[in-house]
Amino acid sequence: MAERLKVHVDPDKCQGHARCKALAPELFELDEYGNAHAAGDGTVPPGLEDKAWLAKSNCPEIAIDVIEE
Ligand code: F3S
Repeated sequence: MAERLKVHVDPDKCQGHARCKALAPELFELDEYGNAHAAGDGTVPPGLEDKAWLAKSNCPEIAIDVIEE
């Protein structure tokens, strides 16, 4: 069975660079201050796993976790 991934943004680390939103708009939402949080409960829909890892590796603040369940 394929692994399921979840994304999580650490609100203490996120500085609003928004690279996550640019690279994986399906997985992240920005609040009124431009800080990101995971869309929905963070579950990564099938086929978007690469975008989750891409967003994690491109966040300058290392604020994104990808959790394998
Ligand atoms: Fe924040 Fe990193 Fe995205 S700083 S807005 S989680 S790229």
